[in-house]
Amino acid sequence: MSWYNGFEPIVRTNAPLSELTWYRLGGPARWLVQPRDEVELATALNHCRDAGISWRILGRGANVLVRDAGFDGAIFRLAGPGFDQVSYNREVATVGAAVDFPRFIRDSLERALVGLEVLAGVPGSLGGIVRMNAGGRYGEIRQFVKDVKVLDLTCGEVLTLSQDQVGFSYRHTNLDNAVVLGARLQLQSGDKAAGLARHKEIWTEKHENQPPLSVRSAGCIFKNPAQNSAGRLLDQAGLKGARIGGAEISTKHANFIVAHQGASTQNVLDLIALAKDRVWNHSGINLEMEVEVW
Ligand code: EPU
Repeated sequence: MSWYNGFEPIVRTNAPLSELTWYRLGGPARWLVQPRDEVELATALNHCRDAGISWRILGRGANVLVRDAGFDGAIFRLAGPGFDQVSYNREVATVGAAVDFPRFIRDSLERALVGLEVLAGVPGSLGGIVRMNAGGRYGEIRQFVKDVKVLDLTCGEVLTLSQDQVGFSYRHTNLDNAVVLGARLQLQSGDKAAGLARHKEIWTEKHENQPPLSVRSAGCIFKNPAQNSAGRLLDQAGLKGARIGGAEISTKHANFIVAHQGASTQNVLDLIALAKDRVWNHSGINLEMEVEVW
């Protein structure tokens, strides 16, 4: 009997992951599980864990790099109406984990609910954004979070965690043993035109400083070290334009590795190792990865 006995309708075997990530690189998942609601997720994940199978939760794949050999385990992808609802109660939005975050920002602005425009251009699902406390120069998600609904894997229960319990810090939360199911975000009633204008301004600024979204990447590869910029350190180490196979360090922003035609995940990993090494030799700083390698 297989571990996913009874869940056949939501499980695909040997499923390509490249089409589910921004990098569009890497091999298949041994199992791709697409639960339709929380109960299905909790039960299937329990079976998987009981069978000792490795697992990951995939959002919109904006911050992951899948190895060429693929993932020898189960990738859970939250999709469908059980996870992608948004509702507004005055200035508070209740947002499901699978909701596309950039789209949610725009929808909120259309309703004259402002604040999130500072996160313009941060890609991903709400679940992924919360899980890694995503953000940029003008803010991070934590400043909007009232609470987070999670499936807690220690007790197996659905819990609502307050902002404090989530343990937000720079690109980090303590949600390693939990699956984000949704969050309540505090927005503000404001000036729609001003919000949309600010949103556009930040988009434009990103467009000027970063490779365009049409180019394959996973955003910044490394976290910024305290009081420093990984992009600047990589740039100062002379890494812009460095290339291995089809992977290249962006000439526009050195913390982006772009994948050209024919690139493999191994090309990107080799370039990451080279870049880390060069920065270490050049400035004595040990860069830490922001992108997750599966
Ligand atoms: N810089 C260089 N050379 C480069 C890149 C940057 O000299 O190749 C310099 C810039 O001139 C600037 C400083 O480094 O003085 C910081 O650069 P930037 O303003 O571009 O911001 P960043 O710290 O590199 C952060 C986030 C980005 C986010 C931008 C804009 C991290 C690791 N990166 O980048 O987030 O888009 O701010 O808000 O926190 C991501 O997390 O995936 C990501 C792309």
